Amino acid sequence: MRLVAIDKSICRRDGACKAVCPIDLFVLDSEGFPVFREGADGNCIGCGHCVAVCPNGALSHKNLPLEDSPLINHSLTVSIPALNQLLKSRRSVREFKEEPVPKVLVREAIEAARWAPSAVNRQQVHWLMIQTPAEVKHLAGLVIDYLRKSKELEPRYASFIKQWEQGKDPILRNAPHLAVIHTPDDWIWSSVDSAIALAQFELAAAARGIGTCWAGLLMRAANGHYPLRDALGIPADHCVFGAMMYGFPRFRYHRIPPRKEVRVEWR
Ligand SMILES: Cc1cc2nc3c(=O)[nH]c(=O)nc-3n(C[C@H](O)[C@H](O)[C@H](O)COP(=O)(O)O)c2cc1C
Repeated sequence: MRLVAIDKSICRRDGACKAVCPIDLFVLDSEGFPVFREGADGNCIGCGHCVAVCPNGALSHKNLPLEDSPLINHSLTVSIPALNQLLKSRRSVREFKEEPVPKVLVREAIEAARWAPSAVNRQQVHWLMIQTPAEVKHLAGLVIDYLRKSKELEPRYASFIKQWEQGKDPILRNAPHLAVIHTPDDWIWSSVDSAIALAQFELAAAARGIGTCWAGLLMRAANGHYPLRDALGIPADHCVFGAMMYGFPRFRYHRIPPRKEVRVEWR
């Protein structure tokens, strides 16, 4: 049996599966039924478009069973004003409550990020969730060690080191938790896939009242500073491509700050 089979008794012959397949893996037979190309199994990227677009469930894909592909409730819509407000009101949170975020809420946000697009649908991101404030603090200290070493190169790091010595945490902002994304180091789309996944995580988190902030300095240190890499436990053949502190925000924002005018050229 090929990777994809068609149940001709319910197929509407609308050609949708053939049209949406990004790799063009279907042909039509003489009666207009779609047929998965012979020898094409290895070319399928498993995006599930053929399964998702069929209105009758006439298509069965060995790796993407119908029972794992829930029906879309088309009457459940997101209002555009609500979506716009979520997009615009999400802020980088740098002041957190000590109260831990329930794991169930974080799981939901990771789950939302699972449906982020990824190049060639490879879904290469791995999540590392640091749950204890003590460990987050330890990691921030390791970033400070990295900055101490780099002081000659970037003088602005001196102010972070000074703040740390005064008992502040300018690196991970005393956040209770930290999310880190790592991917295989030979995957060329790592940075894009990781950024999309974390951006989706951050919006899903914001919708649940969780505050997030990208941890750029930790990201910079994570691949080159081995004590930090070891503390994170990143596999030898992986690289860190994203990190985000998170927790419940200590303050609520009341306004949406202005942004630069968009630079766009319409042709
Ligand atoms: C890749 C990236 C790295 C960042 N790194 C840091 C960081 O290390 N520390 C920090 O406080 N904010 C960091 N930020 C947050 C930005 O400063 C913030 O997104 C920007 O000021 C806009 O504010 P907003 O996110 O509240 O809209 C980072 C953002 C991005 C996208």
